[in-house]
Amino acid sequence: MGVSFWEDPYPVYKTFQERSGVFWDELLEVWVVAGRSAVNTVLRSPEVSSDWLRLNAGDSPCREFPELERMLLGWFMLMDPPGHTRLRRTMQSFFARNRAESLAEEFQDVVATQLETIRPPTGVDIANDFSTPVAGGILARVLDVPADVMSTAAVHMAAIASFLAQPHKTEFAEQAAAAVGRLNELYRALAPDLSPDSALFPLVGDDPAAPQDTYLHTAHLLSFAGQETTAGLIASGLLHLLREPGRYHEVATGQAEAGAVVEELLRFDTPVPQVPRVALADLSVDGHTIRAGDRILVLLAAANRDWQNSADADVLDFTRNQRHLAFGVGIHYCLGAPIARQGAKAAISAWTAAFPTARLSPETVRWAVGTGYRRLESAFVQPA
Ligand code: HEM
Repeated sequence: MGVSFWEDPYPVYKTFQERSGVFWDELLEVWVVAGRSAVNTVLRSPEVSSDWLRLNAGDSPCREFPELERMLLGWFMLMDPPGHTRLRRTMQSFFARNRAESLAEEFQDVVATQLETIRPPTGVDIANDFSTPVAGGILARVLDVPADVMSTAAVHMAAIASFLAQPHKTEFAEQAAAAVGRLNELYRALAPDLSPDSALFPLVGDDPAAPQDTYLHTAHLLSFAGQETTAGLIASGLLHLLREPGRYHEVATGQAEAGAVVEELLRFDTPVPQVPRVALADLSVDGHTIRAGDRILVLLAAANRDWQNSADADVLDFTRNQRHLAFGVGIHYCLGAPIARQGAKAAISAWTAAFPTARLSPETVRWAVGTGYRRLESAFVQPA
């Protein structure tokens, strides 16, 4: 049996790039943008929108679920300026590089605590037994909330992620709406106990017993954007290293610098392979005219491999100049990039150092299917 798209989408992305950096897909009725320069042009253009209503042309069944629609309209990731700029600015300092660096020891504690639960020689699932709880613990430290809040949020967020991957399916909208209700309860209960160090604190408003909508929406957004992504990077990163014992050894013994390892893993296989946009005005990209109102699928993962300009794009090489676009480009550049980098460095270094001779059981590797994110569902490892 051949390898499916979900196991390895890169051969398909490569054919896209070979066809053209930009092309109109008749079936999906969307411009596919797969070339590195075209991705940069589109994401940096003020003539493209991330606005939820524009992206979905108002035809998603979520219109029938007002709480769900209100929440998505409140995510600054799905807004254009000036609303986007204003909300992003309130969050900026909590996610700055120096804050991430100051949390490094706390992230190492999160990782160490999780590693203590792993008892060789039993098989361990690097996704569910390690990466997911570590990513939740890291985000809990960043937001200064109890770790179990993040793990509960992650369960409900899965329904919202499924809906966002396929926003035209009514059953997914229904499940996502139910998840929004439960998340609202979770975050309302949390508001009175938030510390001033939490990124969410400034958004609560004057009455913590009845927090502002902005607080609820941003709490949802951060749980969504911050957990599965970081978990995905740690899990798929470890998987790719385990598949190449020579590389794994370099990391475990500290011969490869942790920062360079994380950057190369982000380039090699990013958890956020694509982002959507819609053109606000006619746009010229690599000689093609994208018309106002056209939808655009920006393939960051394809741009990261950059086959057009790199002969060894499919090789994992920690010494290369890793100019990747895994965190996006332009005004929506990932707010949590310093956190994700710091967290992944802590997790990958500590795991490989703890289990320098770990072996993957290849038949246990399962990738999620039909998602907008690239997510390793499970992969079992013999730690020693
Ligand atoms: C490996 C981990 C991560 C990856 C690959 C990733 C990737 C991305 C990408 C590609 C975007 C741009 C979306 C767009 O252009 O439409 C983005 C935006 C965002 N990310 Fe991340 N992310 C990661 C981790 C995190 C973390 C840990 C947080 C928060 C704690 C976070 C919060 C956000 C937010 C709030 C936005 C929206 C920014 C805006 O619209 O201005 N991300 N992320």
